Amino acid sequence: DKQHFRHFMLKEIHEQPETVELWLSKHLPIHAPIDSPIVLPYDASFYESIEQIQILACGTSRHAGMVGAYLLEQFAGIRTSVFFASEFRYAPPPLSPHTLTIGVTQSGETADTLAALSMEHQRRSVLDNNDFASFQLGITNSSESSLALQVPNILDIGAGIEVGVAATKTFLGQLLAFYGLAISFAARRKSRSQEEINALCEELRSIPKQLKDLVKEHNQLAESLAHRFADTEDVIFLGRGINYPIALEGALKLKEISYIHAEGYPAGEMKHGPIALLDQRVPVISIATEGIVFEKVLSNAQEAKARDASLIGICPQTVETQIFDSLLPIPKVSEWISPLLTVIPMQLLSYYIAAQRGLDVDQPRNLAKSVTVE
Ligand code: M6R
Repeated sequence: DKQHFRHFMLKEIHEQPETVELWLSKHLPIHAPIDSPIVLPYDASFYESIEQIQILACGTSRHAGMVGAYLLEQFAGIRTSVFFASEFRYAPPPLSPHTLTIGVTQSGETADTLAALSMEHQRRSVLDNNDFASFQLGITNSSESSLALQVPNILDIGAGIEVGVAATKTFLGQLLAFYGLAISFAARRKSRSQEEINALCEELRSIPKQLKDLVKEHNQLAESLAHRFADTEDVIFLGRGINYPIALEGALKLKEISYIHAEGYPAGEMKHGPIALLDQRVPVISIATEGIVFEKVLSNAQEAKARDASLIGICPQTVETQIFDSLLPIPKVSEWISPLLTVIPMQLLSYYIAAQRGLDVDQPRNLAKSVTVE
């Protein structure tokens, strides 16, 4: 039931504060032990023995995996790679010992992801060296899926049924699973100080309230900004660091439901080709959150502005961010936590652009909710 919402996608975007609240109550309880603040069903040896992680996924789930890889590497200090499941199947990297393979699929039914996981299990199990044993973890929104039958360890994101073909609340749920894993690895391996771990946990606890305000505010902002995209044919999304995958996700959401050509780029790559596309007809949507790449993203945005592109910033409202022609403001938070907020304006803007074009937002052409063929 869509309740009072026009589409399931809009309803599901609005459900995200609740998705986080539920996840936090289950996995980040207030009285959890200080050295293991996150409740996950793994023992200490799991966290200590793993040397590297590989993440296999498709579409939006792969973008969640990319944010996850950033957290696992930069916050928890574990070498992590992300693969398109469809590529991994036919060109896996050489086997490495003590490797955890994580399959991310909200439906738990994506053929390429299931096949990549099964191929990886197979090639590890023929080696009779314990170091290469196949340890697999599945992150999904369906504990009854084919993934759950295939992979013994499942992290259920518990986001509830998602009807819209465009993944929104399940993406957020997948991000949370990775925050949980990264914090657990960092706490158990002591790769971060207790203060840093507590600070991240505290920030996570503040997210539901911030999300509630943000969804409300951006619902209106995105609706009025969307009118400017009535004749737009191409859009460039820029982000860096932990928000680069959010730029990719913004582009995927937009093309999937509005059929507008959109590309996500790491902002520093602009000058290596895509800048040639820019003129006054091409909006550039840039994520600029405070952190190590803040100044860099602003200067990349400035380069786009010099080519007459109209600039939209997803960033805090500060003196520096006045360079943007329009702002989709987000609160000042640490860079670590920012993807949980920056994705909201992306989702709402895509939604309103598609809805104003009169398109079938929940059932876009040529797409299905789960892709069960190769
Ligand atoms: O069910 P999965 O998470 O495995 O689905 C993967 C992709 O097909 C999916 O994320 C697709 O890109 C979505 N329609 C994105 O909104």
